[in-house]
Amino acid sequence: SGIESLGDLRSRRVLVRSDLNVPLDGQTITDDGRIRASVPTIEQLAGAGARVVVTAHLGRPKGAPDPQYSLAPVAKRLGELLGRDVAFATDTVGESARSTVDALEDGQVAVLENVRFNEGETSKDDAVRGEFADRLAALGDAFVSDGFGVVHRKQASVYDVAQRLPHAMGGLVAKEIDVLRRLTEEPERPYVVVLGGSKVSDKLGVIDNLLGKADRLLIGGGMVFTFLKAQGHEIGKSLLEEDQLDICREYLQRAEQSGVQILLPTDIVVADEFSADAEPSVVAADAIPADKIGLDIGPESAKAFAAALADARTVFWNGPMGVFEFDAFAGGTRAVAEALTQVDGLSVVGGGDSAAAVRKLGFDEASFGHISTGGGASLEYLEGKQLPGIDVLS
Ligand code: 3PG
Repeated sequence: SGIESLGDLRSRRVLVRSDLNVPLDGQTITDDGRIRASVPTIEQLAGAGARVVVTAHLGRPKGAPDPQYSLAPVAKRLGELLGRDVAFATDTVGESARSTVDALEDGQVAVLENVRFNEGETSKDDAVRGEFADRLAALGDAFVSDGFGVVHRKQASVYDVAQRLPHAMGGLVAKEIDVLRRLTEEPERPYVVVLGGSKVSDKLGVIDNLLGKADRLLIGGGMVFTFLKAQGHEIGKSLLEEDQLDICREYLQRAEQSGVQILLPTDIVVADEFSADAEPSVVAADAIPADKIGLDIGPESAKAFAAALADARTVFWNGPMGVFEFDAFAGGTRAVAEALTQVDGLSVVGGGDSAAAVRKLGFDEASFGHISTGGGASLEYLEGKQLPGIDVLS
């Protein structure tokens, strides 16, 4: 079901759904990893003589045009990476899109404006989504699904459009699924999972599922404070998801019963406030002062986490250990990344933030087994959920 299955692509308009949802600071792209990951499929299609029409979303605009979420800077960066002109349509399925696609010659590439500027893209109403998908499908003769980061979304440009055109799986999606399969089907042991990031509520499904599968679960990042609180500790001004306390307690108990080792930090880097130049200090994880906020796991914890990763044969890591964007609070994330580069086996970095973190901290991407372009998508895969954007292709 790869691109070859579509036959001769010369002079055919091929819609390719990519995940170009990159972090922006104003007009500046702060991490172009997802754009670079999208290049091989686009190049492959252009090389085959197709007229390539790229669709993508950026951020979460509310179903109407919103300049701060324009894909224009992304299209520009894609052009630089491809080393060729990339046309840009200022709407998704309107006059600009039609004339831009009509003007394409064989082997040329266009990017359409943010699909989420149209309410039909994310509508829960099948008919509303279908109507938008009809208009998208009218711009192509075939569809290639290559936006791994969005395959967990049942959205028009991911799901419905595949029902309307001859379709195939792009190489990026195929590669990502292949790696995730290796994590879920008889992973080599010890299998260690590292979870961080700000929200416990994003990770519940995956923790639930992994309690029966992983040998060790290391927890850091903003979400760890809800766990520490669940153990009865003072967490000061640190992040707390009050409504997740009970479930954290339950997970800690279940882990004990099922023989899965859960490792929580024993020390925390705290500060007076959430800011880049806040003065850091290290305190015991069970003694965070009431007026402090926890911003990273401490050095002793970082060492313990690295030790727990040292003999791992399979590792999945999602979510930074602290506020890595601020140098003083990047130590935990750096230590975990470093430990992953030493793993003798399969090491997978999953998700937008952790992937951006390893690049920002200057690690060589090649020293990891795989850096996924999908955050939510890889978590949902590991939860054992069906991914609509994958199911629709078979
Ligand atoms: C992501 O950033 O994980 C993907 O691009 C999906 O974006 P979404 O969570 O806004 O659907």
